Amino acid sequence: MRIHYDEKNRLFKLDTDHTTYLIGLTPEGYLGHVYYGRRIGNFGGAYRLRIEEAPFTPSVNQREKSAFLDYFPMEYPTGGIGDYRESCLNVRNEQGCMGAELLYLSHTMEKGKPGLPGLPASFGSEEEVETLRIICEDRVLGLKAELMYSVFAAEDVITRSVKISNEGKENLRLEKVYSACLDMDNEDFEMITLHGAWARERHIQRRKVGYGKQMVSSFKGEPGHQEHPFLALVTPDTTQEHGEVYAMNFVYSGNFIAQAELTQFHQVRMVMGIHSEEFCWKLSPGESFYAPEAVLVYSSEGLGKMTRSFHDFYRNHMIRSPYKYKSRPVLINNWEATYFDFDTEKLLAIAREAKANGIEMLVMDDGWFGKRNKDDSSLGDWEVNEEKITGGLGELVRKVNEIGLKFGIWFEPEMISPDSNLYRKHPDWAIQIGGRENTQSRAQYVLDLSRCEVRDYAYECVAKILRSAPIAYVKWDMNRQLSNLGSARLAPDQQQELFHRYVLALYEMQERLVTEFPDLLLENCSGGGARFDPGMLYYSPQIWCSDDTDAIERLRIQEGTAMIYPISTMGAHVSDCPNHTVGRTTPFATRGQVALAGTFGYELDITKISSEDRAQIPEQVAMYHKYQELMQKGDYYRIHSWNDEKPYDCWMVAAKDGSEALVTYVQVLGQPNERSRIISLKGLLPDTDYRLEGTKEVYRGDELENCGFLVRDVRGDFQSRLYHFVKEENNNLTI
Ligand code: DGJ
Repeated sequence: MRIHYDEKNRLFKLDTDHTTYLIGLTPEGYLGHVYYGRRIGNFGGAYRLRIEEAPFTPSVNQREKSAFLDYFPMEYPTGGIGDYRESCLNVRNEQGCMGAELLYLSHTMEKGKPGLPGLPASFGSEEEVETLRIICEDRVLGLKAELMYSVFAAEDVITRSVKISNEGKENLRLEKVYSACLDMDNEDFEMITLHGAWARERHIQRRKVGYGKQMVSSFKGEPGHQEHPFLALVTPDTTQEHGEVYAMNFVYSGNFIAQAELTQFHQVRMVMGIHSEEFCWKLSPGESFYAPEAVLVYSSEGLGKMTRSFHDFYRNHMIRSPYKYKSRPVLINNWEATYFDFDTEKLLAIAREAKANGIEMLVMDDGWFGKRNKDDSSLGDWEVNEEKITGGLGELVRKVNEIGLKFGIWFEPEMISPDSNLYRKHPDWAIQIGGRENTQSRAQYVLDLSRCEVRDYAYECVAKILRSAPIAYVKWDMNRQLSNLGSARLAPDQQQELFHRYVLALYEMQERLVTEFPDLLLENCSGGGARFDPGMLYYSPQIWCSDDTDAIERLRIQEGTAMIYPISTMGAHVSDCPNHTVGRTTPFATRGQVALAGTFGYELDITKISSEDRAQIPEQVAMYHKYQELMQKGDYYRIHSWNDEKPYDCWMVAAKDGSEALVTYVQVLGQPNERSRIISLKGLLPDTDYRLEGTKEVYRGDELENCGFLVRDVRGDFQSRLYHFVKEENNNLTI
C-alpha cells in the first residue's frame, strides 16, 4: 500500500517511489500539512505541526484560536473564521454571512482512482494509483468536504481534488473552492511561472517570493496566452539537475489562480484552484460541487526531474487518445498558405504537391463555411460554402483521399458572429448582459454553452459534418475570451456560475465528440496556445502551441511548454519565410528540426515555396517517422536555454531503455571567437558505447555526460543540428 494511516499519531502517509506527503490531525480534528518532500521511512513526523508551541492550539492550552488559525499549516484552509491567509473555501449561508470551519470526520483508502463527474481527470489501474479520501465537516453549515488525494507512485505525482456537499437544510453559496494548498516553511523560495501574449506563449519567468501574495491567474474563461495554470516553488540555485521543486499544475481549461503567499511567520502558502473572481456556486441541500484536479510534483533533483514526472504522468494517466503513441499523419494546413483565400482547386493543388513530397494529410482551416471570406462573419453557420468548395465537402474529401491524403478540418464551434444566420435567428444565444452593448472580439461573440439547446446545436454542427465524409482530423479552435458574462437562462443568483458552466459544457461537447468518433485525431487550439492545459489533453493528444511558427520564437515557447507537457502534445509546423509573425528568415532545415520537437507538420503553400526548400520535405517527413517513437515515448532533457541569455538552445530526448538519444542544437546567433562548444548530454547509460550516427565516432555514456560532446563550428545565425546517438550492438568499442 502507498497510503498508510497511523491511528496513534493520527497521521496519514502517502508515498510515491521518491516522495512522501504527510497529513496530520490535531486533537480537535483540524487537518494539518505536515510534510512533503523526499521519501522517508519513518512515520512519526506529527511534531512538525508544532501544536504545543505558541501561538497556541485551542484544545491544548485553551487560548488564542485566532492566532492558531492564522499560523497552523492547514491542509485545506477555510475563510471567515480567523485564518487571514488565502483561504481555499469560502461559504456564505442564507443569512448572508461567510464562514466555514472543517474538522475531520472519517476517511477511506482505496486502490485505483474514481473519476470526477463532468471534469477531465487522471486515471490509472489499481496497481498504478491509490486514493485517500478525508471527509471533513462543518456541522453548523451541514457541509461536508471530501479531500481526495491520489498517489501515482511511479511518476512521483500526487493529485488533489475536492468534493463539497451540502447535507444541511439551507442553500449555501460557494464563493471560492480551490483544489489544493501547500503550507510550508519558507526555504527562501523562488517561483517559476509561465507568462506570454498571443504568439509569445509560455515563456519561463523566475522571481523571488516576497512577503505578501504573488500569483498568476486568469478570469478570461480560459487559461489564456498571458499566464498559465502552473506554479513551481524552488529552492535558490535550483537548476535542471539540482534543487528542490514543489510544483502544481491545474487540470482545468477556464479561470484559475496559482498563488504563493509569504506570511508574517515566514511560511509560504501555495494554492491553486478556480479563480474566485466572478465565481459563485449555489449549492442547494443534497447537491455536490467538484473542484477540478491539481497535479502535484515534488522533485529533489531539480527541474528536469519535475519535467519528466509531468511528462510520464500526462502520457500514462491523462491522455486517452488512441493517437497517444501512434504515428500521426504528417499534415499540411492551409492557414498560413492561403488564409481565407482558397477554393477547391487551390486545396487540390496543395494536396497534389503535398502527396508528391510525402505529406499525409491536408487540413482545411478557417474560411470554408457560410460566407466567411474574412474573420468577420458566419461563425455558427456551419454549412460548406459551395462557391469556394465546388461540388460540396464530400466531393472535396473524396478527391483529396483519391490523391492519397487524409482529410482534416477546422471548426470554431463555441462562437457566433453577429453577422450570421444563427445570430439573426437566436441573438440571445450569445453570452451577454441584457441592456448593455456586447463586446466584440475578432468580430465575434461567445455562445452560451451553459444552455443545453445551444451546446446541442453547436455539437451537432460539428458531428453532422464529420458524419458526412471520412474526416480524420479536427482542429477545434477558440479565438476570443469571455466577457459580458450573462446568460439568458440562468437565474440571477446563478449568473456567477456561468464561467464554470461554460467550461463544463465544453468538456461535455468534447467528450461526446471523442465518444462518437473514437478514431478522430483531435487538436485543440485557441488563437494559438491560449488553452494549452492538462484538461484539454484529456480530450486531444495534441494542442496547437502558438500562432508564432517562427523557428527562433518557437524555442522559448516550446521550452516553456515542454517544461510541463510531453513534446508529442505540442502542435508545431514548418512555415514559410519571411515568417508571417516576425518577418524573420531561417533555414528550412532549422524550421524542420524545431518542429520535430512537436507534432510536426507544414503550414505553407507548397506550390509556391522554393524548389530547394520543397526538396527537403521528403527527407523531413522521413525524419519525423524515424524519430517519432523516440519523441513520443522518450525522456526529455533541457540541456541549454536561449532563454538564459545563451546564444544557443539545446534539448535532447533519450530512450527510456538507453538505446538511443536525439540531441537538437540550435545556434541562435553566431558569436565572434567561438569555433566549438562542449555540451553535456543526459539520460544515457553510463557504461555503454554510443555511436554518433553517420560517423565513426563512438563515445561512452558517462563520457558524454561528464566530458561532454563537442559541437563543432558554431558559426552562423539560426543554424540547427541533430545528433543521433545509437547504442553500439557490440559494446566493447570504447576509444
Ligand atoms: C487561430 C489559430 O491559432 C490559427 O492557426 C488559425 O486556425 C486561425 N485561428 C483561423 O482563424
